[in-house]
Amino acid sequence: MAVEQTLAMIKPDATARNLEGKIISRIEEEGFNIVAMKKLRLSKAAAECFYFVHRERPFYGDLTDFMSSGPIVALLLEREGAIAKWRETMGATNPEQADEGTLRKLYALDLEKNSTHGSDAPETAAEEKAFFFSGLELV
Ligand code: RTP
Ligand code: MG
Repeated sequence: MAVEQTLAMIKPDATARNLEGKIISRIEEEGFNIVAMKKLRLSKAAAECFYFVHRERPFYGDLTDFMSSGPIVALLLEREGAIAKWRETMGATNPEQADEGTLRKLYALDLEKNSTHGSDAPETAAEEKAFFFSGLELV
């Protein structure tokens, strides 16, 4: 399996409950190397840009309000099969459908406030990496 990178976020519902440490510990336990990491607050416009792919979806307004409602942590993660492995570690989008022990099962509040984000393909991982990090920030 090839070494890949994926873009992860700790969403505002999780930073509000001081879950950053627990989620970052899990990232380390699952064998990811943290290539870059920063905490910031997205503006509404930045959240709309990040989730532009969902602009036609009924939840776009609520989602971008939520994602700009408080700080997030953005992380660039690397390991073999990183994209699928991180999505497996997060669990299903809806925490009611997430497997036991996944981050969303453990921490998500509901379908929207689901604590973490992960890229869904190599192309989106590359776009999302460039959205958050400059070359200087990749270590
Ligand atoms: P993400 O992009 O955040 O990693 O989540 P995902 O791939 O599992 O789910 P996606 O379909 O890309 O949806 C992005 C985020 O939008 C919120 N959502 N709300 N109210 C709704 O019906 C609804 N559906 C999705 C969630 O925060 C989801 O993670
Ligand atoms: Mg998605």
